[in-house]
Amino acid sequence: MKIIAFACQWCAYRSADLAGTLKYEYPSSITIIKVPCSGRVETEFILKALAEGADGVFVAGCPKNECHYRKGNFVAELKTSILSNILPEFGLESSRIAFLEVSSSDAKKFVEFARNFDERVRSLGRNPIRRYSHEKD
Ligand code: FES
Repeated sequence: MKIIAFACQWCAYRSADLAGTLKYEYPSSITIIKVPCSGRVETEFILKALAEGADGVFVAGCPKNECHYRKGNFVAELKTSILSNILPEFGLESSRIAFLEVSSSDAKKFVEFARNFDERVRSLGRNPIRRYSHEKD
């Protein structure tokens, strides 16, 4: 199982980092990619991750009104919402994509979300597009 998490450097990435410091465990299926702001995550980054075999993708940013670039998290939430609505057109379940807002001090929220998302994606099974990509187990 492979899950890609795009995490903004100011809040989400720091909450994941704090989780590590506090020795809170989250699923090893999750690979975190640090981005300047969640709003910087283009829809094609998410689609590319899925096309290359990720089983799920989530974008994590700062809480509402705390984005360091003003409205990046609003944009990211909107993009993930629109994208999840059109995913079935590609033969994928909407719930393979999600958005999380989390503060830098809320490691617990990050970990709980990561565990729930991992569980949710596992219940969907492997990404059916994987068989067309060169990605192996
Ligand atoms: Fe964190 Fe924009 S800086 S979401």
